Amino acid sequence: MTTVKLSSGKEIPIMGLGTINQPDKIGEVIKDAIEIGYRHFDCAGGYLNEKAIGDALQELIKNGKIKREEIWITSKLWNIYHDPKDVIEICKKSIKDLQCEYLDLYLMHWPLAWFKNEKEDLAPMEEDNKTIKTVDIPLIETWKAMESLVDQGLVKSIGVSNFTEKHIEEIFDQAKIKPAMNQIENHPYLAQNELVSYCKSKGINITAYSPLGTAHLKRPEDPVLLKDPVILQMAQDLNVSPAQIVLKWNMIRGVIVIPRSSSKNHLLDNFNALNLKLSDEQFKAISDLDKHFRFIRPLDLWGIDVFDEKK
Ligand SMILES: NC(=O)c1ccc[n+]([C@@H]2O[C@H](COP(=O)([O-])OP(=O)(O)OC[C@H]3O[C@@H](n4cnc5c(N)ncnc54)[C@H](OP(=O)(O)O)[C@@H]3O)[C@@H](O)[C@H]2O)c1
Repeated sequence: MTTVKLSSGKEIPIMGLGTINQPDKIGEVIKDAIEIGYRHFDCAGGYLNEKAIGDALQELIKNGKIKREEIWITSKLWNIYHDPKDVIEICKKSIKDLQCEYLDLYLMHWPLAWFKNEKEDLAPMEEDNKTIKTVDIPLIETWKAMESLVDQGLVKSIGVSNFTEKHIEEIFDQAKIKPAMNQIENHPYLAQNELVSYCKSKGINITAYSPLGTAHLKRPEDPVLLKDPVILQMAQDLNVSPAQIVLKWNMIRGVIVIPRSSSKNHLLDNFNALNLKLSDEQFKAISDLDKHFRFIRPLDLWGIDVFDEKK
């Protein structure tokens, strides 16, 4: 599998598996994915399924199908754990649940610090039950705690997710360890060329989430990327699936992709995008589809304007 070298010196497989999935389904998906050839798993404490993923990976390791060092495991720090005193403990919980000894990559999931209540609600609400209860913890404080995870050998590389240029600038100069990754929503309808170039200029690699444009939080009125006429025509001409085309487009840009699927056929279909070739004209035709359309909109979800959506 093609890999991308990060500023930490580690090499991440250019295609990984997105794991937002039911805990009772994800185990089988992981086993199918390993059989097909996936070696990179994009996890998060907030997906509430890391124990099931860990169980499946352990079974595969015990049966001699894979070795820990042959796979790449990413996890993420959820918004209620930004307080530096919580960072090590919650990272250790992910490692324990995933049963993986260390994480290859740990990301700050969002540039958002939320209140941690007694029940550790993942989306803590204010009294009005409408707005998320936030806390004032500067991103750099949380980042410094993440740096200590590397120092302690719990994590090999650290990075961020859903960060804009402004958020990166809040931490970059003071960071002892520079972020190796920014995981962002990225597909032909949301190319984010400026942010991608900015990150590359800082030595930060990009992972595309929702790379098929079929985000789990999609609304009925949202456009359907995999049914775009340009993509459909190209898929027909090349005798491949629309999913393969949009995944390959990002990989040509040097962007890592983490499509999610619970179907073995789709897992295989997506994996085969690695072998697809697109001409310069085809690449450009896909790039021209950019309409700055975001499927995951924190303003709608939480009433917080992370991406200047109001503009
Ligand atoms: N950092 C963040 O804030 C963040 C946010 C969102 C997502 N993520 C990560 O990114 C991963 C992927 O994003 P996502 O889950 O939003 O969306 P996605 O991967 O773009 O789309 C997943 C959807 O596409 C379908 N699909 C998969 N392969 C297909 C194919 N070959 N043809 C047609 N349909 C196909 C899947 O259905 P089937 O199951 O039927 O195949 C599923 O409904 C997540 O699992 C997660 O790991 C991160």
